[in-house]
Amino acid sequence: MLQVRGISKNFGGVQAVNDVSFSVGANEVHGLIGPNGAGKTTMINLISGLLSVTSGEITVEGERIDNLPAEKRARKGVARTFQNLRLFRNLTVRRNIEVAELQVRGMATADPGLVEDAIDRFGLRDVLGEAPDSLPYGQMRRLEIVRALALRPRVLMLDEPAAGMNPEETDALFRNITWLRNRHPCAILLIDHDLKFIMSACERLTVMNMGSLLASGLPQEVTTNKEVISAYLGQGDNI
Ligand SMILES: Nc1ncnc2c1ncn2[C@@H]1O[C@H](COP(=O)(O)OP(=O)(O)O)[C@@H](O)[C@H]1O
Ligand SMILES: [Mg+2]
Repeated sequence: MLQVRGISKNFGGVQAVNDVSFSVGANEVHGLIGPNGAGKTTMINLISGLLSVTSGEITVEGERIDNLPAEKRARKGVARTFQNLRLFRNLTVRRNIEVAELQVRGMATADPGLVEDAIDRFGLRDVLGEAPDSLPYGQMRRLEIVRALALRPRVLMLDEPAAGMNPEETDALFRNITWLRNRHPCAILLIDHDLKFIMSACERLTVMNMGSLLASGLPQEVTTNKEVISAYLGQGDNI
């Protein structure tokens, strides 16, 4: 579904991403992990079109998207959430979701029940009339996910969706990500620090370090990879 081939991004001398390749299958939850500054968020920015690549190629179902502006990529089914939330503060929760739905109005793939199911599943039913700012942090993060889902994505990228959540919320979130993938099959790229959750939620993993690809494959292959281990040794579990 999603293929990233030889992607590099240079910020005026800083090589944030250096020749990284990996792919995410059509109905796969794929973890993207690595220490702070590894280039994970930059990778999502490059795929979603917030940033343009310095070199390399990105395709969705074989079609190149790396030359398209971000809103065209969104219409082609590339959706994401942000590490630092970006909700419309002056709109209600319901309107925040509807704005995303408008972007895909008239598309054949609609599935009208999807958003209502997600509103229930992600615990937003009782707060649809509220402003996002009035919600607890975990609920704001869940709103971001439902909003991204309203785009009926083929590729859904979640940048640290559990950040700021307590352990129960995190637990429920990862169960809901599995629900989401079954309810709306798509390629999910998931960034998180919690290896336990990543290992339980993801079929495959890609590990980055200082902009470069360390390993990509099945969780047990990746976590026994010597380079991955040495990159994380001495950092505790700060993965
Ligand atoms: N807009 C930017 N301009 C300059 N440097 C950036 C920019 N965005 C990210 N970087 C740098 O790129 C590297 C990777 O950052 P980032 O992708 O945010 O890492 P991660 O999400 O893995 O923590 C860091 O060294 C960061 O300082
Ligand atoms: Mg990041």
